[in-house]
Order: sequence, then structure tokens, then C-alpha cells
Amino acid sequence: MTDKIQFPKDFVWGAATSSYQIEGAWNADGKGESIWDHFCHTPGKVKDGETGDLACDHYHLWPEDIKMMKELGLKAYRFSIAWPRILPEGRGAPNAAGLDFYSRLVDGLLAAGITPFVTLYHWDLPQALQDAGGWPARATAETFVEYADVVSRRLGDRVKNWITHNEPAVVAWLGYHTGEHAPGLQDLNAAIRASHHLLLSHGWAVPVLRRNSPGAEVGITLNVGWTMAASNSAADLDLARQVDGMWARWFTDPLYRRGYPADMTADWTASGTLPNGLDFIQPGDMQAITVPTDFLGVNYYTRAVVRSETADRVGAAQNDPQAVFPAPKDPKHWSEMGWETYPEGLLGVLGRLYFDYQPLKLYVTENGASYSAGADADGHIRDTHRLNYLRGHFAACHRAMQAGVPLAGYFAWSLMDNFEWAFGYSQRFGIVWVDFTSQKRIPKDSALWYRQVITDNGFEA
Ligand code: FCB
Repeated sequence: MTDKIQFPKDFVWGAATSSYQIEGAWNADGKGESIWDHFCHTPGKVKDGETGDLACDHYHLWPEDIKMMKELGLKAYRFSIAWPRILPEGRGAPNAAGLDFYSRLVDGLLAAGITPFVTLYHWDLPQALQDAGGWPARATAETFVEYADVVSRRLGDRVKNWITHNEPAVVAWLGYHTGEHAPGLQDLNAAIRASHHLLLSHGWAVPVLRRNSPGAEVGITLNVGWTMAASNSAADLDLARQVDGMWARWFTDPLYRRGYPADMTADWTASGTLPNGLDFIQPGDMQAITVPTDFLGVNYYTRAVVRSETADRVGAAQNDPQAVFPAPKDPKHWSEMGWETYPEGLLGVLGRLYFDYQPLKLYVTENGASYSAGADADGHIRDTHRLNYLRGHFAACHRAMQAGVPLAGYFAWSLMDNFEWAFGYSQRFGIVWVDFTSQKRIPKDSALWYRQVITDNGFEA
């Protein structure tokens, strides 16, 4: 027996991308260098030396891409703006060609009946600002507000959904602590400062966006995974607390009026990471960060099962997927990123965020899976694992809504295969295939199935 899963009439079905991952045209029409241009052009940083110089060439192919979105029935499109296209040096005189590009894109989307959701910062900081200190410097937060002002003055009459930041945790921790992402620094103290200035810039930008874009809804997007200890050993439980503290609570707590989590500050003080404490917090900062927003965006991909090297392993495997699915990992349950498919985690995350923090509403602003399945002899792309991944996560969204979570929409990551950061082009997250030589786009079976879900506003479970 099958059950029909039906979504509410106004549910927003969309797909997401980001500027650096799809646009290409890295130095066209007056665009300045971003930290990702710089990082990719530095040997040894990205797999196989790949870059976003051309990517999906969306900067030139956007009219076709809008047509494709329309054919797929998408109701909304989440994309980001490349700050150095607008302000090549980070601040100062705007580059008219950059603003024109996004203005035409927005007009094209609206003409196609697709609602634009604009992310201001999806990681491509102007290199000039990094040279002046980057996110660890407070001045970068001030500059972000100037940038938000310039963009929203131009687009605010037509764009009514704004996301200040995408995944500030990834920006801070991968950019300034592990160094896997641009700008590639390895300094936890600098990363903690960066996290504060990212949140502060969000808080300061929200009123500017509201002023320039009357009636708009404004929010921020966080990556919140589902963190579980591999066992009930004290060491595993404590490590899970730390991982959740660093990746989730360090951001959710200050945004929702709780300040920075005391356990994390205590850990970092004990380890000597914060010799001057949280001296970068100035009067009024925490108040600014808790500015009311209209929604919280959540990017969810997988769960994290956390095992401490020092845990007592006797009888300790109950949550450990390595024990449940021994290597080689079954692609039904594990994507090519090595991420486990765990839709229950999305249900958990949505419930936790809503019941614990009470955002007015939520969007899933990213969710998807990397599988490289390409065309069969008949030209079809049978990306069954991705289709099943989406189906499971749609069902989780529906269950969350039944439990009372005000989930307003879902954006698949990604509209099309693109440049996957440090992994280059080796990871394909698109519901549409991209041939990176011919720039041809081919909707995969997952996209065709998604189109049907959107048309029916539901599916047979
Ligand atoms: C998220 C990013 C997005 C994409 C996916 C796979 O962390 O926001 O740009 O890389 O992961």
C-alpha cells in the first residue's frame, strides 16, 4: 500500500547554486579577484589543480539556464552574488557591469515565474579584503554592510527573499582553521574572530536589507548536521558535544539570544586558544547579532557519527554506521563524497532548530547528494541513488511539517553539476548533468522526477 505525501499549496520548491561554483568569467567585465580565484590559482590547493575560471559558464549561459529551470517547473531559484563582481576591491565604486548582470538575471527569473532567493555571501570574498585581514578583521564586517547596501539598492525592488550568509561555520572553520577552503589559513583564534565578524555582519546587514527592499524576508543559512556519539562512552559523548558546539551551537545560540556557548569558550580558554578571551566582542555586538529575522535556512546533507580515539570501545558500536555498513560502502547509503544518506537526521535537525530556537519559519536551502552517474546508451541519466536520496529527504520534510515545524520550502543542491570547492569537478551534485567541455546540460532522472513532484505537489511514498 502506498501513501500519498502531499505538501501545502504554497510550498516553495527550488534548486540552489552559488556564484563561484557556476559562473566562470572570473575576470570578465571589471570583476575583481576573489579569495577563491586566488586559492584555485595557487598550486596544490584544489584537487587536480581545477578552478572555477569557466565552471558552468553561467555568466554567459544564464538565459538558457533560466529556460531549463522553467522547463523543470522550479518555483524558486537560490543563487549567490559574487561580491567582487559588484565591488572589485571590496568597497568603493560599484562596477556597473556586475550589477547589470544580476539585474538581468533577476528580471529573467521573474519573467519565467521563478522567485529569486539571493544569498549575499557564498564564500567569494574580494581578495583585496582578505589582504586587509579578511573575516578575522572587524573592518570586513563593516564593509559587508556597504556591499549589502549597494546590492539591495539595485535589486531590492524585485528581490524579496534575502540570505545574508551561507554556512558561516564553513567560512570560519574551513577557511581559517583547517585551511581546506580559501583563504587557507590555519589559525583557530583567527577563525573564532572570523565567526564573530560573520555573525556581526549578518546582524548589521539585516536592517539595511529591510530598508532597501520593502516587504522582503531576510534570513541566514546555517549548515547543521545531525551529530551523534558513536557510543555512550564519556569520551565519545564529550567529543559529540564539542563537534555540535563548534558547528551548530556556536552559531545558533548567539543568533537566537543565548550568546556564545559557555562550554566552547571554556574549552578554548583551557586549550590556550583564547589568550585574550572574547576581547573581539564590543558593546552592542551580541544585541546586533540577535536581530529578528524572517526565516532560518538550513543546509543538511548527512549525519556525523563521532568517535573519540580514546573511547572505551567495549560494546560501543550502537550508533556507528561503519559497523552497520562495512566497507566498501554501499552507494545506496553512501554518496561519492563519502557522506551517509540519513534522512532521519533532517527530521531531527528541523525539529531541533524549531523547537529549541523558535525561528518564525525554516527553509531547507540545500540538500542533495554527489553521484557521478552519466548517460546510458539511450541518453538517459539514471541517477537512481540521487532520486532515492531526494525522495527520502522530501518525506523527512513532510514528517517535520506534520510534527509542527513551519517549513516553507526546499532547495535541491544543486541545480546542475558544478565546481565543488576543494574537490574540483570530481563531485557531481547536480540534478542536471553538465558536460564541462561542451557546456551541454542534460536533466537527470532525478530532475525529471522532481518536476513531477512539483507538478503534483507531492508523491507516492
Ligand atoms: C555546502 C555548500 C555548497 C556545496 C555543498 C555540497 O556546504 O554550501 O556550496 O558545496 O556543500
